[in-house]
Amino acid sequence: MLKKIVAVALVTGLWAGTANAGAVDTKALMMEGKGLIKGFATELVGELKKSMKSGGPIAAIGVCNTKAMPITDKHTAQATGWTIKRSSHKLRNADNKPDTFEARAIKEFQARQANGESAKKMVMTMVTIEDGKKTFRMVKAIPTGKPCLACHGSDIKPEVAAKLDSLYPNDKARGFKMGEMRGIFSLKKEL
Ligand code: HEC
Repeated sequence: MLKKIVAVALVTGLWAGTANAGAVDTKALMMEGKGLIKGFATELVGELKKSMKSGGPIAAIGVCNTKAMPITDKHTAQATGWTIKRSSHKLRNADNKPDTFEARAIKEFQARQANGESAKKMVMTMVTIEDGKKTFRMVKAIPTGKPCLACHGSDIKPEVAAKLDSLYPNDKARGFKMGEMRGIFSLKKEL
């Protein structure tokens, strides 16, 4: 009976959770995913800090604009079997738009945040079927830190705002407060 329920949940792509994901060791996958996020985030923030230090936020925007995607692709290529991306409810680059699962996770995180939960530890996982293949999905919230405010806060310097306007005419990724969820890391692995 339980097996049947799990199978139905997998086929229909419903929430399969940690306990009822059949033979899938979601805990181990989540640990692996967290490690991948750490490596990815460390490189992104490292590049950001380096460019902020040497050329200020305007130069750093150029670095985010040209390097964020290649760094994302590099980490996907290195982590065999995994796909890694970032997304948000308030996007700067429309290429990062959320898919159905990501949009659902973001909504849930926003609700939890509204209930007072910190964005630091919010994680959601699911085992589903995508293109006929059993797939592990994982989403982790990204909190807004102090260095993020120069380009995502509500008090952005006019020259920084002008540069952002010219590169991202539809930019929605401003007005964030310290600690608020800025977006998500999203990982996926075919099982
Ligand atoms: C120097 C300016 C700058 C700073 C500082 C900055 N960002 Fe960004 N951020 C950008 C730009 C530019 C993009 C779009 C990158 C692209 O085109 O791929 C972006 C994109 C993102 C995205 C991808 C989703 C989207 O909206 O396209 C996330 C998530 C994000 N930033 C989070 C952060 C966090 C968290 C911090 C602080 C650790 C931070 N950013 C600091 C400029 C900045």
